[in-house]
Amino acid sequence: MIRFEKKEHLKILIFISDLIRKVFGGDRTKRISKKIELILKKEAGFKKKISIVDFGCGSMEISKKIQHNKFINKIVGVDIFKSKFKYKKLEYYQYSKTKDLKKYKCDVVLLIDVLHHIGIGKSFKLLKELSRYSKLIIIKDHFEHGQISRQLLRFVDFYANYAYGVVIPKIYYSEKSWTKTIKMSKLKQLYFEKNFQQHDGLFNLILNKKHHFISVLKK
Ligand SMILES: C[S@@+](CC[C@H](N)C(=O)[O-])C[C@H]1O[C@@H](n2cnc3c(N)ncnc32)[C@H](O)[C@@H]1O
Repeated sequence: MIRFEKKEHLKILIFISDLIRKVFGGDRTKRISKKIELILKKEAGFKKKISIVDFGCGSMEISKKIQHNKFINKIVGVDIFKSKFKYKKLEYYQYSKTKDLKKYKCDVVLLIDVLHHIGIGKSFKLLKELSRYSKLIIIKDHFEHGQISRQLLRFVDFYANYAYGVVIPKIYYSEKSWTKTIKMSKLKQLYFEKNFQQHDGLFNLILNKKHHFISVLKK
């Protein structure tokens, strides 16, 4: 994940980790963006052009890939850092409170590998809040399977985010805690896919598909 404004001393670290990712099958954005496109075309059933909020967008690599679809009108990336990013159908908004999002009412919210950073126990509140401003929420997140898998996820999260100051969670969702989160958010699950393969090559061997799930929620 590359941020818009790289700090000088972090450039070399970011370059090396991006290179490792490219060589060893670690580019997750390809498979995730294809899956999102498929869900938007087949499951969501929108009859008109849609607007999307990419919440916790990072450098919007996924939005950059999906923006070319004709059925997408506009994508607003929302995150906590400063940026003047503007690109074709994309714009960026730095937010501090979810209430600020009122002015970005949209058809779909994307939460791609963001919810676990919010906190497993309190993520239902964010889901509830975001559902006030959108018709559908598409989530990609992680499942842990015991201690080793949890520490593996923490290590990979650290590797992917060390240059950006993102908080690394102590725990991740299990199927049980994800079901509880949906229940507490009072939303309905329209689509669920566990064992979603996001990587190829060595990266897929290290963090295989049982660690990834996709869920689509609506009111
Ligand atoms: C693992 S990155 C994912 C970035 C992007 N969604 C992607 O898939 O490439 C997690 C992102 O969540 C953002 N984030 C963390 N806590 C957040 C919060 N409370 N509100 C909004 N964004 C947050 C981080 O700044 C970071 O960009």
